Amino acid sequence: MTTKPLYLEDSYQKVCTAKVLEVDGKKGNCKIVLDQTVFYPEGGGQPSDQGIIKFESGVFEVKQVLLKGDKIIHEGVLKGELIMGDKVECEINWIRRYHNMQVHSAGHILHEAAKELLPNIVPIEGQHGKKAFIKYQGKIKEEYQLQIKEKTNNLIDKSLAINTEFVTLSELKKRSPWIPERLPTNKPLRIMWVEGYTPIPDGGTQVKSTSEIPYIDTVNFEYEEDCTKVIYYLEIKKKESTIVSSDLSPEVLLNIKNEALVMIMESKDPEELDRLRVHYLGKNGQLTQIAHEIRDAEVGRVFNEAKIAIENALVNTKQPEKISVDETLPGKLPPIGHLHPVTHAIEEISSIFEKIGFVRVRYPEVDWDWYAFEALNMQKTHPARDDIETFFVDVPENKKLGKLVLTPHTSNGQVREMERTKPPIRMINIGKCYRRQSDVSHTVMFHQFEGLVVDEGINITHLKGTIDHFVKQFFGQNRKSRLRPYHFQFTEPSFEVDVTCDICLGRGCKLCKEGWLELGGAGMVHPNVLKAGKVDTTKYTGFAFGWGVERTYMMKSGVKIDDLRLLYSNDIRFLNQF
Ligand code: DAH
Repeated sequence: MTTKPLYLEDSYQKVCTAKVLEVDGKKGNCKIVLDQTVFYPEGGGQPSDQGIIKFESGVFEVKQVLLKGDKIIHEGVLKGELIMGDKVECEINWIRRYHNMQVHSAGHILHEAAKELLPNIVPIEGQHGKKAFIKYQGKIKEEYQLQIKEKTNNLIDKSLAINTEFVTLSELKKRSPWIPERLPTNKPLRIMWVEGYTPIPDGGTQVKSTSEIPYIDTVNFEYEEDCTKVIYYLEIKKKESTIVSSDLSPEVLLNIKNEALVMIMESKDPEELDRLRVHYLGKNGQLTQIAHEIRDAEVGRVFNEAKIAIENALVNTKQPEKISVDETLPGKLPPIGHLHPVTHAIEEISSIFEKIGFVRVRYPEVDWDWYAFEALNMQKTHPARDDIETFFVDVPENKKLGKLVLTPHTSNGQVREMERTKPPIRMINIGKCYRRQSDVSHTVMFHQFEGLVVDEGINITHLKGTIDHFVKQFFGQNRKSRLRPYHFQFTEPSFEVDVTCDICLGRGCKLCKEGWLELGGAGMVHPNVLKAGKVDTTKYTGFAFGWGVERTYMMKSGVKIDDLRLLYSNDIRFLNQF
């Protein structure tokens, strides 16, 4: 089963009826073979036709046509039911085809012109689609660009006939001194020749006369390894096609509009688009000229519509390849997050202590009663051991270590550190703590940093010196600290550490009242705690301190947070301020 190629006999045939031989595929992407067709399949450098195939129950939109053996395959979108044997009506997109014919014939004329200028050139390949060119062996000097263009346009000007005919191979051999290799011998050959020139085999569609071909607008050379691509662009329209008022009708304008829209839509090249703009809308453009000729209101209306449609199409047709890009412009920065203020505080605190020999550790935030309370010398009746203050985890009690709690302080790290390592100990444990309290100055979850030093001969002066050092590093050299006697179960003696207010620096003001702000607890480690950690109390003493990270951070100059809970509300507007 073969398809009869009607386009070879008559390039001007736009419609035909046909019978369906094969249907392959479903709605979306479908292939159809007919017994005959006007659709030109891609080949010989000429792009395939597009168009529609109508039938009783629907249409087939032809997107692409291919030649396979003797079959012509129409590919496209099927709307409706189509089966073998159905009768169909084919109609090609004539504007597209006619343009392809013009470009194709122009290529042949250009070749004849080039041969007259450079008799020995050998063509290798020709493309007559969007970017039309003929590739020749060897390097052709650049100065021939203009000569080839002019010579071609001279030939076009002569209104030479372009003929096609079916002949046998032997006949072709008689008529042409040069014929390509590998031509079929068993069937008639389609040939073409330009009036006055020798015939060559050609399976494409051709216009009948060079007078139908627009002039060549530009010829460019592109050099590839030992060959030259002669690229040619046609003018949009024949120059002589000036329209006078008597020719003007709504139909003429609609045709101009449709033709323009197709060409704009199909233009791939920004230069081509620019030529189209000049051709239609430029100072001497087709529409600009027509505007002077309008004598009729209806023509005027259609003219306006056409002009707007063309203007819009020119604006909306995107040409991404040629958008000029300033590569030196800095790129757009994606929004970058930053660390949470509490994380910043933790890092700063760690680094201050690490510089004076402390080791940063982190102990469980869900821990046994033993580490959180019992080993810290806290009696069973201590309020912190009640579920009014502390969260207990609902798991079976450990026989030795007791209940499981969400640690209400980082002091659980003390005995754990004594178990992990022998003195000398210099630990800074920073972690999360949990207490049943939530208000402007408390969050259910918060952070503490716990210091522990155990060594021979450790006394209160070491504690005071360490605290002073931290206060000056973290809050500033103008801030002072003091130890105020207090009571904790796990230290003896115990203190509360105060820091001078950043506003009045210790003199007393409305905000701090007495000049001092409370930082947190500290003291000399209670011997019972050392014993729980199996530390020899006859040899070693120690000090410890434990303060809230959030609270400490808020006491830093310039940081005032009215409601501590804001820190954990995940409100970007709040967090972005840090
Ligand atoms: N753990 C105590 C609390 O959360 C703070 C504390 C006080 C820690 C004195 C200590 C210390 O290491 O020696 O309130």
